[in-house]
Amino acid sequence: MKSFKFAVAAAVALMASPVIAQSDADMMFEDPGMLTQTDGEDIYNAICSGCHMPEGEGAVGAGMYPALADNPNLEYPGYAIYLILHGQKAMPALGGVLSDEQIAAVVGYIRTSFGNDYADEVSVQEVTDTR
Ligand code: HEC
Repeated sequence: MKSFKFAVAAAVALMASPVIAQSDADMMFEDPGMLTQTDGEDIYNAICSGCHMPEGEGAVGAGMYPALADNPNLEYPGYAIYLILHGQKAMPALGGVLSDEQIAAVVGYIRTSFGNDYADEVSVQEVTDTR
């Protein structure tokens, strides 16, 4: 059932996304490897970049998608972890889609990418405790 949940969440994400075309959506649903990705960058590119853009620059269009680049809100991992797990306004809750390990990996990735330099480790335990 995990893949069904993912398809639903991805469909929601894609509908709200300013850039992803329908053909990309079809491709995503056909990719059985989607949920097994453990690398933060791969997860970002698969799920987050559609809204937050490939370089984390964010977007303003059909909605407001905050930039993750040079973002001081990422100083403490707990904020991003909570948002990814539970969602907030137009940010979809991804706690049913991603494992604790995957969330720790993607938060670690955004905190050390796009001009962010928060190198301390994001622990899987913190994600587990935030669920
Ligand atoms: C469907 C579009 C969408 C997707 C997919 C998405 N986000 Fe978001 N995200 C948003 C929106 C919209 C907000 C602003 C929410 C608000 O208004 O409070 C946001 C907010 C955030 C914030 C807080 C930024 C700040 O400065 O307050 C972080 C961190 C974040 N997202 C990370 C991620 C990560 C990591 C992923 C992938 C696992 C992801 N998002 C996937 C739309 C999205």
